Amino acid sequence: MMADIGDRAVETMRWRNGRLEMIDQRVLPARFEYLSYSSAVEVAEGIRSMVVRGAPAIGCAAAYGIALESLTLTGRSRDQFGAAMEEAFAALAASRPTAVNLFWALKRMRAVWESNHERTPIELADILLGEAHEVLAEDIRINRAMGAYGAALLPDGARVLTHCNAGALATAGHGTALGVIRSAVEAGKKISVIADETRPFLQGARLTAWEMVQENIPVTLITDNMAGHLMSLGEVDAVVVGTDRVAANGDVANKIGTYMVAVLARRHGIPFYVACPLSTIDRDIPDGTAIPIEERAASEVTGFRECQWAPEGVKVRNPAFDVTPAELVSALITEKGVVREPNRQRVAELFSL
Ligand code: MRU
Repeated sequence: MMADIGDRAVETMRWRNGRLEMIDQRVLPARFEYLSYSSAVEVAEGIRSMVVRGAPAIGCAAAYGIALESLTLTGRSRDQFGAAMEEAFAALAASRPTAVNLFWALKRMRAVWESNHERTPIELADILLGEAHEVLAEDIRINRAMGAYGAALLPDGARVLTHCNAGALATAGHGTALGVIRSAVEAGKKISVIADETRPFLQGARLTAWEMVQENIPVTLITDNMAGHLMSLGEVDAVVVGTDRVAANGDVANKIGTYMVAVLARRHGIPFYVACPLSTIDRDIPDGTAIPIEERAASEVTGFRECQWAPEGVKVRNPAFDVTPAELVSALITEKGVVREPNRQRVAELFSL
């Protein structure tokens, strides 16, 4: 049984009655339900356990985590407020390591806090909540802008392969890679999607396929090891993926398996595009070798829920992300425009536009 939300747009997270509600992405597509959050520690656990996932969505959730915490502290002295807020920042920063949007959002919330230091805790909570709402609203505007730039790159009739889920669920709405596809469809192009299932957590099979089916955008699900074969048959016209962190030289970290897709795309002369908001570019990291790669539980590889297919005691590696060198990236699609053949200089120039 698959959850069907009819005509409603996916609201990855929403503010309701003083609490943050987030779609539980672990149970999609079987069930569509929201979980409710009221503190930074709870939100950090929601990020860690992947109730919410996808770089921009993690950033938005972290901003709300800070706002929620401040709302619990309005009766405290300024010193007590400061100490508890530091704990909230630390808990959220420790939730997941790779998506830089998490740290970007925390830095932004800290800057707002620091520039309003003289305010009372009640006033600060109000200001921080306003900023979290703005982080969310801004993310949708950015995705729409990237969508418009990216849609122009896709020819009418394009068969577009994507990896993982970089859709509405991975953002505040519309999506990054799937935002490009949605915008192309809205512009009247006939686009079909090939979704890699994206082992081991199956974000492609569970989430990308669900989003596309909800909107009647033609989608074909494949296992990750089929991508090269379909490319060799001439069945893929472009690849569009999202990203969790882009280094200053244009190297791209994204869900494990993306590097393999990029190598195959280059082998077959297929453009490989990365939809990348500026908040995902980490200019403090010189190249991809310095991007922290999350290593997740072995149980994600040895089985799924109750079903275990690998023998007890087997050694397992489970890196959640890999790095695609900039030289394999045809273009970064950002809210400020398209950066073809990204390199250190072109990435730096983006920030002076
Ligand atoms: O482990 P996840 O599901 O958080 O990984 C998500 C991805 O790798 C996405 O492709 C990436 O965050 C881009 S999201 C717009």
